[in-house]
Amino acid sequence: MDNSAKIVLVGMPGSGKSTLGKAVARQLGFDFYDLDEEIVREETKSIPEIFMNEGEGYFRRLETKVIEKLLKKDASFLLSTGGGAPCFNENMELINRYGISVFLNVSVEQLLLRLTKNEADKRPMFRGMDTTEIRLKLQDLLADREMYYEQAKIMLSGDDISTEHLISELMSFFR
Ligand code: S3P
Repeated sequence: MDNSAKIVLVGMPGSGKSTLGKAVARQLGFDFYDLDEEIVREETKSIPEIFMNEGEGYFRRLETKVIEKLLKKDASFLLSTGGGAPCFNENMELINRYGISVFLNVSVEQLLLRLTKNEADKRPMFRGMDTTEIRLKLQDLLADREMYYEQAKIMLSGDDISTEHLISELMSFFR
Protein backbone atom coordinates (compact mmCIF):
# COMPACT_ATOMS: atom_id res chain seq x y z
CA MET A 1 0.00 0.00 0.00
CA ASP A 2 1.12 3.53 -0.73
CA ASN A 3 1.31 5.43 2.58
CA SER A 4 2.96 8.47 1.11
CA ALA A 5 1.64 12.02 1.44
CA LYS A 6 1.50 14.06 -1.73
CA ILE A 7 0.84 17.71 -1.00
CA VAL A 8 -0.16 19.78 -4.03
CA LEU A 9 -0.28 23.58 -3.87
CA VAL A 10 -2.67 25.35 -6.24
CA GLY A 11 -3.51 29.02 -6.75
CA MET A 12 -2.98 32.04 -8.90
CA PRO A 13 0.39 33.21 -10.25
CA GLY A 14 2.06 35.20 -7.49
CA SER A 15 0.25 33.39 -4.66
CA GLY A 16 3.54 32.06 -3.26
CA LYS A 17 3.19 28.38 -4.25
CA SER A 18 6.87 27.92 -5.07
CA THR A 19 8.39 30.00 -2.26
CA LEU A 20 6.09 28.62 0.43
CA GLY A 21 6.19 25.12 -1.07
CA LYS A 22 9.97 24.93 -0.98
CA ALA A 23 10.13 26.09 2.64
CA VAL A 24 7.40 23.69 3.81
CA ALA A 25 8.92 20.73 1.92
CA ARG A 26 12.26 21.46 3.55
CA GLN A 27 10.71 21.58 7.03
CA LEU A 28 8.76 18.36 6.49
CA GLY A 29 11.75 16.60 4.92
CA PHE A 30 9.74 16.03 1.71
CA ASP A 31 11.02 16.19 -1.85
CA PHE A 32 9.94 19.38 -3.63
CA TYR A 33 8.76 19.62 -7.23
CA ASP A 34 7.79 22.70 -9.19
CA LEU A 35 5.57 21.71 -12.12
CA ASP A 36 6.88 24.47 -14.40
CA GLU A 37 10.48 23.52 -13.62
CA GLU A 38 9.78 19.85 -14.38
CA ILE A 39 8.31 20.85 -17.74
CA VAL A 40 11.22 23.15 -18.56
CA ARG A 41 13.64 20.33 -17.73
CA GLU A 42 11.79 17.77 -19.86
CA GLU A 43 11.37 20.08 -22.84
CA THR A 44 14.68 21.94 -22.44
CA LYS A 45 12.76 25.11 -23.31
CA SER A 46 11.48 27.99 -21.20
CA ILE A 47 7.73 28.33 -20.49
CA PRO A 48 7.40 31.42 -22.76
CA GLU A 49 9.19 29.49 -25.54
CA ILE A 50 6.82 26.53 -25.18
CA PHE A 51 3.78 28.83 -25.31
CA MET A 52 5.17 30.70 -28.29
CA ASN A 53 6.41 27.74 -30.36
CA GLU A 54 3.99 24.97 -29.42
CA GLY A 55 0.97 26.86 -28.11
CA GLU A 56 -0.96 26.77 -24.84
CA GLY A 57 -2.76 23.48 -25.63
CA TYR A 58 0.58 21.69 -25.88
CA PHE A 59 1.72 23.21 -22.58
CA ARG A 60 -1.52 22.11 -20.86
CA ARG A 61 -1.04 18.54 -22.09
CA LEU A 62 2.49 18.57 -20.70
CA GLU A 63 1.16 19.74 -17.34
CA THR A 64 -1.24 16.78 -17.21
CA LYS A 65 1.49 14.32 -18.24
CA VAL A 66 3.89 15.52 -15.54
CA ILE A 67 1.18 15.67 -12.84
CA GLU A 68 0.19 12.06 -13.66
CA LYS A 69 3.79 10.90 -13.58
CA LEU A 70 4.49 12.56 -10.22
CA LEU A 71 1.28 11.42 -8.53
CA LYS A 72 2.07 7.80 -9.38
CA LYS A 73 5.31 7.92 -7.40
CA ASP A 74 5.30 5.90 -4.20
CA ALA A 75 6.93 8.72 -2.23
CA SER A 76 6.01 11.71 -0.14
CA PHE A 77 6.54 15.06 -1.79
CA LEU A 78 5.25 18.58 -2.15
CA LEU A 79 4.34 19.80 -5.63
CA SER A 80 3.81 23.45 -6.55
CA THR A 81 1.67 23.70 -9.67
CA GLY A 82 1.41 26.49 -12.24
CA GLY A 83 -1.62 28.76 -11.81
CA GLY A 84 -3.60 27.20 -14.68
CA ALA A 85 -2.74 23.56 -14.01
CA PRO A 86 -5.78 22.59 -11.88
CA CYS A 87 -8.16 24.09 -14.44
CA PHE A 88 -7.48 21.85 -17.47
CA ASN A 89 -7.95 18.19 -18.44
CA GLU A 90 -9.62 17.21 -15.15
CA ASN A 91 -6.28 17.71 -13.40
CA MET A 92 -8.00 18.77 -10.17
CA GLU A 93 -9.83 15.42 -9.93
CA LEU A 94 -6.55 13.64 -10.46
CA ILE A 95 -4.79 15.75 -7.85
CA ASN A 96 -7.55 15.11 -5.32
CA ARG A 97 -7.59 11.38 -6.01
CA TYR A 98 -3.93 10.94 -5.03
CA GLY A 99 -2.96 14.07 -3.16
CA ILE A 100 -3.76 16.62 -0.48
CA SER A 101 -4.54 19.78 -2.40
CA VAL A 102 -4.07 23.19 -0.81
CA PHE A 103 -5.45 26.41 -2.33
CA LEU A 104 -3.44 29.53 -1.45
CA ASN A 105 -6.18 32.14 -1.64
CA VAL A 106 -4.43 35.51 -1.98
CA SER A 107 -6.17 38.78 -2.90
CA VAL A 108 -5.82 40.23 -6.40
CA GLU A 109 -4.20 43.38 -4.96
CA GLN A 110 -1.52 41.31 -3.27
CA LEU A 111 -0.98 39.20 -6.42
CA LEU A 112 -0.55 42.43 -8.33
CA LEU A 113 2.06 43.70 -5.85
CA ARG A 114 4.02 40.48 -6.23
CA LEU A 115 3.74 40.37 -10.00
CA THR A 116 5.92 43.36 -10.59
CA LYS A 117 6.47 44.21 -14.25
CA ASN A 118 9.61 42.09 -14.35
CA GLU A 119 7.93 39.04 -12.78
CA ALA A 120 4.85 39.42 -15.00
CA ASP A 121 7.00 39.46 -18.15
CA LYS A 122 8.33 36.00 -17.28
CA ARG A 123 4.78 34.68 -17.60
CA PRO A 124 3.23 34.43 -21.08
CA MET A 125 -0.21 35.27 -19.64
CA PHE A 126 0.91 38.79 -18.64
CA ARG A 127 3.67 39.55 -21.09
CA GLY A 128 3.94 43.21 -22.13
CA MET A 129 0.97 44.30 -19.99
CA ASP A 130 0.88 47.41 -17.82
CA THR A 131 -0.39 47.35 -14.22
CA THR A 132 -4.00 48.08 -15.16
CA GLU A 133 -4.04 45.31 -17.75
CA ILE A 134 -2.42 42.85 -15.34
CA ARG A 135 -5.06 43.65 -12.69
CA LEU A 136 -7.89 43.04 -15.18
CA LYS A 137 -6.27 39.84 -16.41
CA LEU A 138 -5.84 38.58 -12.83
CA GLN A 139 -9.50 39.34 -12.07
CA ASP A 140 -10.65 37.50 -15.22
CA LEU A 141 -8.43 34.49 -14.59
CA LEU A 142 -9.54 34.25 -10.97
CA ALA A 143 -13.21 34.41 -11.94
CA ASP A 144 -12.68 31.47 -14.34
CA ARG A 145 -10.46 29.47 -12.05
CA GLU A 146 -12.03 29.86 -8.62
CA MET A 147 -14.36 26.89 -9.19
CA TYR A 148 -11.34 24.63 -9.66
CA TYR A 149 -9.23 26.06 -6.86
CA GLU A 150 -12.16 25.77 -4.47
CA GLN A 151 -12.20 22.00 -4.94
CA ALA A 152 -8.97 21.86 -2.93
CA LYS A 153 -9.12 19.88 0.32
CA ILE A 154 -7.55 22.74 2.29
CA MET A 155 -7.94 26.46 1.65
CA LEU A 156 -5.66 29.04 3.24
CA SER A 157 -6.70 32.67 2.82
CA GLY A 158 -4.60 35.75 3.46
CA ASP A 159 -1.91 37.88 1.94
CA ASP A 160 0.85 36.59 4.17
CA ILE A 161 0.45 32.83 4.55
CA SER A 162 3.32 31.49 6.67
CA THR A 163 5.05 28.11 6.54
CA GLU A 164 3.87 27.49 10.12
CA HIS A 165 0.26 28.13 9.13
CA LEU A 166 0.43 25.74 6.20
CA ILE A 167 2.16 23.04 8.26
CA SER A 168 -0.37 23.33 11.09
CA GLU A 169 -3.28 23.06 8.62
CA LEU A 170 -1.71 19.97 7.09
CA MET A 171 -1.24 18.43 10.54
CA SER A 172 -4.85 19.01 11.53
CA PHE A 173 -5.89 17.51 8.18
CA PHE A 174 -4.04 14.30 9.09
CA ARG A 175 -5.50 14.09 12.59
C1 S3P B 1 0.30 30.02 -15.77
C2 S3P B 1 1.06 30.18 -14.62
C3 S3P B 1 2.51 29.95 -14.59
C4 S3P B 1 2.95 28.98 -15.70
C5 S3P B 1 2.42 29.42 -17.01
C6 S3P B 1 0.90 29.53 -17.05
C7 S3P B 1 -1.15 30.27 -15.71
O1 S3P B 1 2.90 29.44 -13.31
O2 S3P B 1 2.50 27.67 -15.42
O3 S3P B 1 3.01 30.67 -17.31
O4 S3P B 1 -1.89 29.81 -16.60
O5 S3P B 1 -1.60 30.91 -14.73
P1 S3P B 1 2.84 30.34 -11.95
O6 S3P B 1 1.50 30.18 -11.33
O7 S3P B 1 3.92 29.74 -11.10
O8 S3P B 1 3.14 31.74 -12.35
